[in-house]
Amino acid sequence: MNESHVFDPKHVAVLESEDRKTWQNPEEILELIDLNPDYVAVDLGCGSGFFTVPLSRKVKKVYGIDVQKEMLAFLEQKIQRQKIGNIEPLLSVKDKIPLENESVDLLITINTLHEIPNKKRLSQRYEGYSDQRDRQ
Ligand SMILES: C[S@@+](CC[C@H](N)C(=O)[O-])C[C@H]1O[C@@H](n2cnc3c(N)ncnc32)[C@H](O)[C@@H]1O
Repeated sequence: MNESHVFDPKHVAVLESEDRKTWQNPEEILELIDLNPDYVAVDLGCGSGFFTVPLSRKVKKVYGIDVQKEMLAFLEQKIQRQKIGNIEPLLSVKDKIPLENESVDLLITINTLHEIPNKKRLSQRYEGYSDQRDRQ
């Protein structure tokens, strides 16, 4: 399957709904990951930052990466409103990721893989960005 549907920014309210926290609570889910306060993390397909912001409270820095500048604009609004200093929104072009090799410790991607046509190629590229390749 080569054609993937990319999320329509007009529907951002769906991602931000209070109801979502009842079945997909970022705080509870992030508790399940072994997070280190020194980590540099990536939220791939960060959208409006539903997971990016809670993650930023638990690690040193988060790159919020998305292919749509409209989605990054929603994230930027949150950063400004909440005066968050450790999230950097980054625009990517398909599977070209704007990061240096071996510059991140952790990658999360939530509700996004179904939008990525060539997952194998993307995961191979991301392997180069991690400095902890032996970690699961
Ligand atoms: C359904 S939204 C989920 C957003 C967020 N992760 C959440 O759970 O609220 C999927 C997001 O992935 C982004 N996206 C799609 N393909 C991508 C790709 N190849 N690289 C980075 N982001 C991508 C879309 O622009 C959209 O913001």
